[in-house]
Amino acid sequence: MRALTVDPRQAGSLRVSETAEPEPAPGDLLVRGLAIGVCGTDKEIVHGEYGWPPPGRPRLVLGHESLGRVERAPAGSGFAPGDLVVGVVRRPDPEPCGACAHGEFDMCRNGRYTERGIKEIDGYGSELWCVEPDYAVTLDPGLERVGMLMEPTTVVAKAWDQVWRVGERAWFEPRRALVTGAGPIGLLAALLGTQRGLDVHVLDRVTEGPKPRLVADLGATYHHEPIDVVGPRLRPDVVIEATGAGSVVFGAIEYTAPYGIVCLTGVSPAGRMLPVDAGALNRELVLENDVVIGSVNANLRHYRMAAEALARADLGWLDRLITRRVRLDRFAEAFEGRPDDVKVVITLDGE
Ligand code: BGC
Repeated sequence: MRALTVDPRQAGSLRVSETAEPEPAPGDLLVRGLAIGVCGTDKEIVHGEYGWPPPGRPRLVLGHESLGRVERAPAGSGFAPGDLVVGVVRRPDPEPCGACAHGEFDMCRNGRYTERGIKEIDGYGSELWCVEPDYAVTLDPGLERVGMLMEPTTVVAKAWDQVWRVGERAWFEPRRALVTGAGPIGLLAALLGTQRGLDVHVLDRVTEGPKPRLVADLGATYHHEPIDVVGPRLRPDVVIEATGAGSVVFGAIEYTAPYGIVCLTGVSPAGRMLPVDAGALNRELVLENDVVIGSVNANLRHYRMAAEALARADLGWLDRLITRRVRLDRFAEAFEGRPDDVKVVITLDGE
C-alpha cells in the first residue's frame, strides 16, 4: 500500500512510499484511509523544522487530520465495517503524568506524549491504517466529504471549552468574540462561536478570495484592517487568536473588554522580536482581571464536542472550507501555498 512519508529532520524528504499493509493488533480497527488534511504543522515537518520519527526508524508516516472508513472491527469494539471514523492524534505519555492518567493527555505535564503523524508514531496518511478503538471517534455518515475537518475542529472545541471554564470563575455572559486569522482554525473557531450564540467578528489581512464570504455566511462580521483599528472599536469579551503573529497577539491582549479572555492557538516560530510596554500590559491584565491562555491539542471530550459541532454545521459551508483536494500521487501540490487556499486535503482513495 502507499503511504506519505517524511524524514522529519530532513527538508524535502517527503515522498509516497510503498509499505506493507498494516496488520491490526488484537482489538484494533483496520481502517481504509479516505483523506488527510494538511496544516501548518505538517508544513513545518515537511520543511524539516518539527516532528520526530518513530524510535529506531528514519521515516514517519505524515498526517494527523484523518478520515477513514472502518474495514475490519473486532466484535464488541463498538465499531462496524463501513463506519466513518477519525483517529485521535495524541497518546498519553508512558509514565503517565497526572494529567495523562486522568485522560487529559492534551494537558500532558512531562512532554513525553506521542502524536500520530507528528511525534514518534506513524500518522494517518496511508491507504490503510490501524487504530485502537479507544482512540477512534465515529462521525455522522453525512460528513464523508468534510470529516477530515474534525481534528482542527477538536482544537477549537478545546479552545472554546477552556475559555468557558476560565470565564465561569466569576459572572460570565460574553457577547462579542473576535477571532484573529481566517485560516481553517480561525474559521472553525468562528463557526463554534456562532454556535454558542456570540456576536462573532473575524479579522484577517485579505480582502479577496473565499474568506470574507465564508465569514459572512456564518452571520459573522469580517474585518481586514489592522488589530489596532479593529480592536478598540470592538472591545471583544473573548478573543480566539489563530495567527500566531506577535503584533496581533499583543493587540488582541490590549483591546479586550474588562474581564477579557484571550485564547492563543497559533504556534509561531521563535526569534521574532517586538517592543512591548510590559508595564502597561501588566497593568491592563491586573486592573481588568484579564486572562491569556494557551491551548493545544484536544482530548476525547473535545472530539465528542467537535463531532457534534460538525454535525450541526451547514454541510455546504464546511465543504467550501476545503478549497483544494489533491490526490496522493500529486502530494507536492498540497504543500504549495496558493492565494485562495483555506484547507487543502490529500485524498487517499483515488477520488
Ligand atoms: C495539531 C495538534 C498537536 C500540535 C502540536 C497541531 O497542528 O493539531 O494536535 O498537538 O500540532 O504537535
